Amino acid sequence: MEFLDIAKKRYSVRNYTEQKVEAEKLEQILEAAYVAPTAANLQPVHLIVAQSEEALQKVGKAANIYNAPVTVIVCADHDKAWVRPFDHKNTCDIDASILTDHMMLQATELGLGSVWVCYFKPDVIKEEFALPDNLEPVNILVIGYANENAPDEDRHEKTRIPVKQLVSYDKL
Ligand SMILES: Cc1cc2nc3c(=O)[nH]c(=O)nc-3n(C[C@H](O)[C@H](O)[C@H](O)COP(=O)(O)O)c2cc1C
Repeated sequence: MEFLDIAKKRYSVRNYTEQKVEAEKLEQILEAAYVAPTAANLQPVHLIVAQSEEALQKVGKAANIYNAPVTVIVCADHDKAWVRPFDHKNTCDIDASILTDHMMLQATELGLGSVWVCYFKPDVIKEEFALPDNLEPVNILVIGYANENAPDEDRHEKTRIPVKQLVSYDKL
């Protein structure tokens, strides 16, 4: 599939079948995260794959995971992050999000559904998974097989701001 076809095909899946995600597919999704770029290649990231019943229950205490069979908690390591010297902006959220996006698009290419979740209680994740202070759960990627019809791949004309509004050339 062409990249843009994958990007257009992807949508947020909030209803999953009970079908498990095959280990090879999960590995490929994690490999997509593994090759993602990070600022100065510092890799201030850690992924916790929650797929056992017990681990999913823990994630479910912090977020709606839509009964999906796999979630990946994408954590940023504040101790390792690159910090821009001019304004001290810490880029670990950005790094964590690039990994998340790589995984989400790889999941789409493999015929899997996903939804990126930020609406979760970080303190609950930290406690349930005994995260050290430096590790911040930034995103939760929910993955599984969609139990719903995919929306039209050309829906973006209706669901996104016009390209003209999004982009400007040579000036604001
Ligand atoms: C940073 C970020 C946070 C999000 N958090 C949530 C969330 O907590 N729960 C949820 O159901 N969807 C969440 N989403 C999914 C968005 O609502 C969704 O991507 C957006 O409405 C566009 O729809 P689409 O993904 O179907 O194209 C999030 C997406 C992003 C990029």
